[in-house]
Amino acid sequence: MARQLDFFSQPEPSLEEVQRQALLCQRCRLAAGRRHVVFGEGPVPADLMWIGEGPGQTEDELGRPFVGRAGELLTRIIEAAGFRREEVYITNIVMCRPPGNRTPLPDEMEACRPFLEEKLRLVAPKIAVLLGSTAAKAFLGPDTRITQVRGRWHHVGGIAVMPTYHPAALLRDPRKKREVWEDVQKVRDLYRELMG
Ligand code: URA
Repeated sequence: MARQLDFFSQPEPSLEEVQRQALLCQRCRLAAGRRHVVFGEGPVPADLMWIGEGPGQTEDELGRPFVGRAGELLTRIIEAAGFRREEVYITNIVMCRPPGNRTPLPDEMEACRPFLEEKLRLVAPKIAVLLGSTAAKAFLGPDTRITQVRGRWHHVGGIAVMPTYHPAALLRDPRKKREVWEDVQKVRDLYRELMG
């Protein structure tokens, strides 16, 4: 991902500066419909980051990522992998809710990218889990198909990234749970290997 250094006033803005800019952001049409900018949450820095698509209705109302039904499932997945939700960083490719929960458009993902890049710099995860097709496309390219890339390690900008299915996809099709479980076991194993 090429960095867009000209966007912030300093080359390496602080978390507070990036958050301040995010709350004011009008870079795409999603700004018009939002109640809250859902920036992301968790410790900074953090070794493990989970990245979804964009806020749904509950997230838009509360200003926090993954707090609706898919979020409850994500919390259970994180815990099943041996982590506590509070010790990982959770965010999305776009920070504002797309109308009717549609998939974010490429220009909306692009507009939000400087924020994602700054979050990656500040959180500095060693491992990132990409939840679903939108996150996988943002990291691995627009033609990426989640069914083809999931379950394998990819390396992007010094981060080991593991694409897997989005928790909302598991709610629609519980048969995918087995594959997600296999994928997050790989995350747990690499984390243990790296952190000792
Ligand atoms: N789905 C996402 O991709 N992100 C959220 O924060 C909630 C649901």
